[in-house]
Amino acid sequence: MHNIEPGNRLANKIAVITGATSGIGKETALALAAAGATVVLPVRNLKKGEDVKKEISGRTGNTEIVLMECDLASFDSIRNFTDEFKQRFDCLHILVNNAGIWEKRFNTTKDGIEMNFGVNHLAPFLLTHLLLGRLKAGAPSRIVNVASEAHRYTGFNFDDPEFRNSYSSLRSYSQSKLANILFTRHLAPLVEKDGITVNCLHPGVVATNLFDKIIPFIRPVAGIFMASPRKGAETTIFLATGTEPDGETGGYWVKKKRKKPSRAALDDDAARRLWDLSREYTGI
Ligand SMILES: NC(=O)c1ccc[n+]([C@@H]2O[C@H](COP(=O)([O-])OP(=O)(O)OC[C@H]3O[C@@H](n4cnc5c(N)ncnc54)[C@H](OP(=O)(O)O)[C@@H]3O)[C@@H](O)[C@H]2O)c1
Repeated sequence: MHNIEPGNRLANKIAVITGATSGIGKETALALAAAGATVVLPVRNLKKGEDVKKEISGRTGNTEIVLMECDLASFDSIRNFTDEFKQRFDCLHILVNNAGIWEKRFNTTKDGIEMNFGVNHLAPFLLTHLLLGRLKAGAPSRIVNVASEAHRYTGFNFDDPEFRNSYSSLRSYSQSKLANILFTRHLAPLVEKDGITVNCLHPGVVATNLFDKIIPFIRPVAGIFMASPRKGAETTIFLATGTEPDGETGGYWVKKKRKKPSRAALDDDAARRLWDLSREYTGI
């Protein structure tokens, strides 16, 4: 039914996928469920989550779809989710940090942090850290971070990471996607000895809800020049489940191939500074 074989190839594997209530994340969840994985979906809207869970079970025949509440715009909610996850599961094999937003105006998370930075970078930073023990227990295990080619628009603004002095929607979103790549690069060598790989990707320009606040008028014609969510999920699914990326880590991928990201994304000093900054923000 999807771009990975249906069946039981992922039987006994546990996967956590964020942002699976729509777009690329939903297609990723469908594919992993079709291959037999137990799929855990942290969602902020349980009603929407229930509908998606029913749809995934109905289309794949997989009943091991687990919904848990998690608002990525709240550190407390992320911690509550990981506590619940750890009570129910001893290990984790696949973590897909897919959820993302693109805010038009300056807005803040429950912790008072600029929204693009908070949801797109600090949330997966915290979530990943809190799940590292379970990923180690599930090794060999994989982390996949959904970044974007938009990272090329900016360097990291360490003087004002939340753009409080002068908000730019494009720079703020792009910086959060740059942060996904810097995080991936810094984390990869730290967890290699534990049998955990971490890669990130650009999914293409995909017709999803992501652009609703930025360019709402694009919606009716999006399907004409944008990829479908199913197509957009291909590289995520490849990195999460494919045999070819076995052992590959720290990479940025586009169309299932490793690609060189921007110079700013290859800056190891910036990656370390961002790491330290993110630890301060999240209290890790
Ligand atoms: N679409 C593209 O062209 C494109 C290009 C490059 C990169 N990307 C990246 O692809 C990823 C997936 O985006 P998409 O295009 O599939 O967009 P989407 O259809 O808008 O999906 C975003 C998902 O993230 C979830 N989410 C947003 N804020 C959340 C929060 N506070 N807590 C929990 N979940 C939250 C949404 O949940 P709700 O259903 O509750 O809103 C939804 O499930 C993002 O990281 C995005 O940056 C997309």
